[in-house]
Amino acid sequence: MKQRATFNSKLGLLMAAVGSAVGLGNIWRFPCEAGEHGGGAFLIVYIFCVLILGTVVMLAEFFIGRASQKDSVGAFKTLAPKNTAWKILGYNGVVAAFLIFGFYSVISGWTLEYMYQSAAGNLNAGSVAEFTENFGNFTSDAFRPVLWVLVFTLIVHAVVLSGVKKGIERASKIMMPVLFVILTILCVRSLMLPNAVEGLKFFFTPDFDKITSTVVLSALGQAFFSVSVGMGCMITYASYFKKSINMPRTTVSVVTLDTLVAILAGVIIFPAVASFGISPSQGPTLVFVTLPNIFQQMPFGSLWAFIFFMLLAIAALTSIISLHEVATAYLHEQHKMSRFKAATIVSSCGFVLGVICSLSFGVLSHFKIFGATIFDLLDFVTANLMLPIGGMFICIFVGWFVNKKVLKNELTNNGTLKFGLFSVFVFLTKYVAPIIIALVCLKQLGLF
Ligand code: TRP
Repeated sequence: MKQRATFNSKLGLLMAAVGSAVGLGNIWRFPCEAGEHGGGAFLIVYIFCVLILGTVVMLAEFFIGRASQKDSVGAFKTLAPKNTAWKILGYNGVVAAFLIFGFYSVISGWTLEYMYQSAAGNLNAGSVAEFTENFGNFTSDAFRPVLWVLVFTLIVHAVVLSGVKKGIERASKIMMPVLFVILTILCVRSLMLPNAVEGLKFFFTPDFDKITSTVVLSALGQAFFSVSVGMGCMITYASYFKKSINMPRTTVSVVTLDTLVAILAGVIIFPAVASFGISPSQGPTLVFVTLPNIFQQMPFGSLWAFIFFMLLAIAALTSIISLHEVATAYLHEQHKMSRFKAATIVSSCGFVLGVICSLSFGVLSHFKIFGATIFDLLDFVTANLMLPIGGMFICIFVGWFVNKKVLKNELTNNGTLKFGLFSVFVFLTKYVAPIIIALVCLKQLGLF
């Protein structure tokens, strides 16, 4: 049999995992969720969810992936050959990957439009109202955003086809550090805006009365979404890890960097929101209206805007690739398709779904299911239901089903690494994580 692909270097692997985690989820979705759910109240619950639960689920996924060296469905078949129900978890992941792909590609397409607009110099003279209106006109258009979805999907397709090492690893390694630097510069700029303090207060002062079950569920969903766990993405990536990789340490690095980027994004957005008098709870448009306003107040604003949206597009790309990879690896390995055929099917179906999501901002905006547009529905169902529930069962699988010796051997690289917190990890996967997630979901469904 052909040897399975692996990531080349430690740094490359870390960057690929960070590349998957850091994306629109941090820079677009996080501020939007925090703005809608009370700022500081959301932040504090979020940090708890991501640092404890996100870490636990990620390490559990790393274990499943590297121990089995299979795609997300194959992994459960390998580790639980007798109990075939577990592979439903793998299917949940493949479906979630596909659904997230659909709405993610729409926002990614928007970043390309904003790159284009900044290059054309159109982003440097306008009031908040004008930016809002232009944005609305663009997103509700039936043609333009769809075209960008197509362009973006083609780029993703090309990178996925060029394989794990050359495509994913190389792109992540170069671009992620640059993104970090630019975010820091923007942070400084944003903090210098008049009224910045008001924004920071909103973001950092928790108002405990605002913590409702909806806030907790959203924070939980956002935490899982942001670190790419709950659906087998990290299972698939870990299946490409070498046996020498220190997985507990990798987990901590990925979660820490991801959280840092999300907080940086908040520190950029909320001072700007306060300074320009924008409502923090306006949803998916937030970032696309606030940021152009910051840029136009900076010298060489268009250039900054261009670089920023380019990096955002790249962050989106490295994330969406990981979604694509989940579905592609599944088709490739479980259905014995060539990688080319598998990737083509995923890209084509993903594109169709992307078009539908894009149109739900325009011609399909009146078509609602449970009161939500298709875009909002997919976002809600995946992040707030499929990921938490997937994450819960992944913990149950690792905590209750997997032999602890096997688990320990894999996480300590056969005893060559120290992993002092092993029993804490087991306790968290066994009891803490599943119980908390179950309570949050049941509470939200009104069942207790
Ligand atoms: N984590 C990415 C982001 O923050 C999105 C993402 C990539 C994702 N792969 C995932 C979300 C798997 C959930 C599951 O933008």
